[in-house]
Amino acid sequence: MRHLLSAGDLTRDEAVLVLDTAAQMAATQAREIKKLPTLRGRTVVNLFFEDSTRTRISFETAAKRLSADVINFSAKGSSVSKGESLKDTALTLQAMGADAVVIRHHASGAPHTLAHAGWTHGAVVNAGDGMHQHPTQALLDAFTLRRHLVGDGGRADVTGRDLAGAHVAIVGDVLHSRVARSNVQLLHTLGARVTLVAPPTLVPVGAGTWTADVSYDLDETLATGPDAVMMLRVQRERMSSAGGGYFPSPLEYTRAYGLDGRRLAVLPEHAVVLHPGPMNRGLEISADAADSPRAVIVEQVANGVAVRMAVLYLLLAGGDQRPGADAEDMEARTGVRTDGTRVHA
Ligand code: NCD
Repeated sequence: MRHLLSAGDLTRDEAVLVLDTAAQMAATQAREIKKLPTLRGRTVVNLFFEDSTRTRISFETAAKRLSADVINFSAKGSSVSKGESLKDTALTLQAMGADAVVIRHHASGAPHTLAHAGWTHGAVVNAGDGMHQHPTQALLDAFTLRRHLVGDGGRADVTGRDLAGAHVAIVGDVLHSRVARSNVQLLHTLGARVTLVAPPTLVPVGAGTWTADVSYDLDETLATGPDAVMMLRVQRERMSSAGGGYFPSPLEYTRAYGLDGRRLAVLPEHAVVLHPGPMNRGLEISADAADSPRAVIVEQVANGVAVRMAVLYLLLAGGDQRPGADAEDMEARTGVRTDGTRVHA
């Protein structure tokens, strides 16, 4: 893996390797001293052309926990045209010796251009491009799902290191969501079944060809007993006005597609609720649903750091391509095995 541009680029084995490595990273994060020397002397640039709270802080924390030098570049407000400003910025960063560039951009495809135009020699990590992709979000969601659904603490019939057999409902503003696009691809790669639930106006044209079922009826989908419900934010900034004509009124949206206590009660005992944040409380999710014990939303944020540590580690330090080599190397570096136990007890 040289760059991480799209969740669709990952094979099942690569995705599982990221999740396994993230498990090792998470184990190191439970220690008193959280910092690892792994990326000492390396430089990670966070290049954010679009607003972000969680993702940006998460990447910064991940890089710092691996001892990399971190440069935060907020490119907002540049007066140069999009392509040129990206190119000029990239060339500047290249001159500073960036080993990895984490980029969030309002234009779909910007990370791909950065990776393939020869403007940087570093690894490019897509932290969200337009309505297109957000691969590390999908990975942290998969990591969170694996922790809850797989293995001893999870459902008995979802076993192994992927999510084979799990059923995930992704609900809400699918049209504007790079999180949904990335999750549909990654969950399919990991063997899970996905149902997209949205009003017809918020289902993208062509979603019929995605590796997911489409439903317009939330109650009907919840009644099928999904293992997880992933709520999406109504992205009002990508609509022209409050509802943008995509739905009659916020109240009606909530009534048809909002997750609340009544709908939670229908779900199977083991089912979990995810949301990538930021949440519109009272619109796509009620306060009692967001704060319920089934909601793993805060955990998603914590898991994001471990997953991004794994991604940076694999791109910058995981050069050995032998199967299992990265796990061995990680064991040597962190003292933690893939199953979370200590190498030297
Ligand atoms: C998501 C994003 O920016 O795509 N948020 C995030 O990364 N945590 C989803 C959203 O903005 O709704």
